[in-house]
Amino acid sequence: MAIGDALKQEGNILILQGARGSGRRSILEALGRAQGRDVLALAMEDLSFDRFVRLLHELALECRLTGKVPLLCNLDALADEKGERLAIVANDFAPLIEGTILVTCGVQRPAVKWDRPVIVIEMGQPTHAQRAKLWLDALGCGTPEDADRLANQYPLAPALIVKAAEAAKARAAGRAMDAQDIFAGIRAVLDDKLGNYARRISVTQTWDDIVLPTDQTEAIIELMARVRGRHKVYEQWGFGAKVGKGLGVSALFSGPPGTGKTMVAGLIAKELGLELYQVDMAKIASKYIGETEKNLAALFDAAEAGHAILLFDEADSLFGKRTEVKSSNDRYANLETNYLLQRLESFTGICLLTSNHESNMDPAFQRRLSLHLRFELPDADERAQLWRAVLPAGAPIAKDIDFAGLARRFAMSGGYIKNAALRAAFLAADRDEAITSVLLEKAARVEYEGMGKLAA
Ligand SMILES: Nc1ncnc2c1ncn2[C@@H]1O[C@H](COP(=O)(O)OP(=O)(O)OP(=O)(O)O)[C@@H](O)[C@H]1O
Ligand SMILES: [Mg+2]
Repeated sequence: MAIGDALKQEGNILILQGARGSGRRSILEALGRAQGRDVLALAMEDLSFDRFVRLLHELALECRLTGKVPLLCNLDALADEKGERLAIVANDFAPLIEGTILVTCGVQRPAVKWDRPVIVIEMGQPTHAQRAKLWLDALGCGTPEDADRLANQYPLAPALIVKAAEAAKARAAGRAMDAQDIFAGIRAVLDDKLGNYARRISVTQTWDDIVLPTDQTEAIIELMARVRGRHKVYEQWGFGAKVGKGLGVSALFSGPPGTGKTMVAGLIAKELGLELYQVDMAKIASKYIGETEKNLAALFDAAEAGHAILLFDEADSLFGKRTEVKSSNDRYANLETNYLLQRLESFTGICLLTSNHESNMDPAFQRRLSLHLRFELPDADERAQLWRAVLPAGAPIAKDIDFAGLARRFAMSGGYIKNAALRAAFLAADRDEAITSVLLEKAARVEYEGMGKLAA
């Protein structure tokens, strides 16, 4: 049923379900206006219990007196473990309204026992062409080719496209807008959305800095091709409709510490021209039951709408194996895992997980990943390359460094090699000398012993 027709039939619950920022509220308000009805909206998030009860009561009263149509925005924000607030909406609020009640909710619709027929309409994601048109209109300048490129690289939710364009315009402050303004606008919008749960990482390294085996590099190129080609393969070629689920890109990078997992995540983001947000577990995990899921929901929604890459370091803490239920805590931990499994499947964005303990990951997650990349400890040749790569061109370096000897004596990963090089550099700077083999050897020995090993 079309939304317009649904609104014409009086007395139903009309739920518009879709991603945040997809324009659900604007659509319902515009439809109301088109039919000569005023819509009165109440946002459900961030309300204390008392305020929630009072505002809901006032909404009912005003709608009864003026004939306006009530709109409850983001009903899913009310979901708590007892379902208390949702029950208030269904049992105390709804019976006061004779006409239609409009509702918007996120991708996951909460279960509510309404007192009347419910019509649910799911908003699809906007198509590439629609996004390009939005970019073109919102920027008010630029060519269709520019808009096409932006829509492909930043398939933001409609509301975010409009906001990013506004921020870009504000930054340009009257002069002709350039690409920098647009990127700054996008960044500002993303920080706004994701800043509560994640930290944006800036990437300064380049592919020249990395040392990886060839098959590893090929897998990374494939991963990036998946991101770049999504619009073509899923939309233009129609694979999206056939595949149905798992339209996002998710990868697990597993392996020992310091083998370059986080570094590769950063390089991938930079190469794709996307922002990388490292999820802050401390801000996600909550001791309150149900809160962790709510935080995760907000995080995934924001990443989806904003098209940023989410990076979960130490992912096994969150995507760990479900446990046999021994205490109520176990049960809730399992709930979170189940939620994550579902959400990952419906997630259309990009999500990278890293872990030192692959075997701790729940196998159900592993099955849902687009790619699993195992990072190995570097062999002696690679270690020699790492020693070379880690010393910057601008540093004073002695000519006769024995890279092969360092590589042979110290079997350590890139992270430790980087630390050792840095340590040697500070020793050299302090003595006002060049970085020598002796200093590198000395620093490597300290790092090596720190790993609990003895140098050969
Ligand atoms: N394969 C590599 N090539 C080049 N440099 C590397 C490599 N691995 C590590 N390094 C250096 O070590 C630093 C730390 O590596 P990184 O943080 O990516 O390791 P990690 O695998 O994420 O480790 P952890 O499991 O401890 O999080 C990098 O910023 C880089 O300087
Ligand atoms: Mg890491």
